[in-house]
Amino acid sequence: MRVYLDNAATTPIAPEVAECMIPYLMNEFGNPSSTHSFGRQAKAVIETSRRSVAKHLNCTPAEIYFTSGGTEADNMALHICVNALGVTHIITSSIEHHAIGHTAEYLNKQGNILLSYVKIDSKGNVDLADLERLLQLEGKALVSLMHANNEISTLLPLEKVSALCEKHKAYFHSDTVQTMGHYAFDLQNLKIDFLTCAAHKFHGPKGIGFLYVNKMLKTEALIHGGAQERGLRGGTENLYGIAGLAKAMDLAYHDVLGHQDHVQALKTHMINELTAHFDDLSFHGETNPEKSLYTVLNCSFPPTSKAGMLLFTLDLKGVACSGGSACSSGAVSQSHVLQGIGADGSRPNVRFSFSRYTTQAEIDYAIQQVKDVFSKTLV
Ligand SMILES: Cc1ncc(COP(=O)(O)O)c(C=O)c1O
Repeated sequence: MRVYLDNAATTPIAPEVAECMIPYLMNEFGNPSSTHSFGRQAKAVIETSRRSVAKHLNCTPAEIYFTSGGTEADNMALHICVNALGVTHIITSSIEHHAIGHTAEYLNKQGNILLSYVKIDSKGNVDLADLERLLQLEGKALVSLMHANNEISTLLPLEKVSALCEKHKAYFHSDTVQTMGHYAFDLQNLKIDFLTCAAHKFHGPKGIGFLYVNKMLKTEALIHGGAQERGLRGGTENLYGIAGLAKAMDLAYHDVLGHQDHVQALKTHMINELTAHFDDLSFHGETNPEKSLYTVLNCSFPPTSKAGMLLFTLDLKGVACSGGSACSSGAVSQSHVLQGIGADGSRPNVRFSFSRYTTQAEIDYAIQQVKDVFSKTLV
């Protein structure tokens, strides 16, 4: 049996999504900027997709800018803030994805901005009092905090952070790459300036995503070239990717609560089974469903001298999952996220991440392999 439990890294494309992309790879291949019928047809696909995405988020189509994925959208949000909106202070956390962390560091090194890291607790929760303290520092601020952490699942209370940003007149960006397509968003009611999306996290194609920018804001191009995406991002559009993203979003939001119930039940089952089996098991990040992304479970196993073998052995048994640690030259080093929450580096950890296609039989198989690996291989 082969079980894929690394859906936070990427998800399998939904068959309906692949099917909907084929015409745009084969027959309807026009360049959306061409004025002939092939081009006009392609342009219509892009604008229909944009309208469909906007409808799901309750925003206007003009607020959606298609990008090559989450990393580009994150870069773009920070770039717009510093270079078009006069931001001089970026407030973020030490456990953001590198698409934000490294971009903020880069902008800081350029010498243009002050960079502050808000305090977080051992489960990755943001200290809102510390955030408010930082918001009172001098300068126009941007708060960039991820909606759900991709390694440890902890969720940000978006409304509370939004209220603080509004109170202190700061811009607010949230990296929603792990939550878009998994939770509903209502952008008429949530005050937020920027959101980011990558289609491959919800059964869409890789290499396509978008940045939502509130319509009241000025923007500035990160990629210079043609006038595509209303001048914000030059380059011929990824037609089949955009069509695939819109289809993936339709499928994701068709029954988002049903998907959530299904996946949360699997996660709870895994938590219960592993907790009952191991004397000394804990979890990184929140596990309370109210505060934790339902697709991710990060287990911290009892220390073993063969920790470096864990993921490798599970892979040999057909279970694909990932660690928050990178193993290089035989030395296991902790990820910046686990370091950021002060996790115990002597304990091996595994991130299991699920999708709406994951079955109970697959979870049971994975649980059995984990138990076997610890009892036979890692002793
Ligand atoms: C939270 C988060 N932000 C950004 C990204 C980057 O997205 P992409 O791979 O589409 O560039 C990822 C991907 O793993 C992610 O999990």
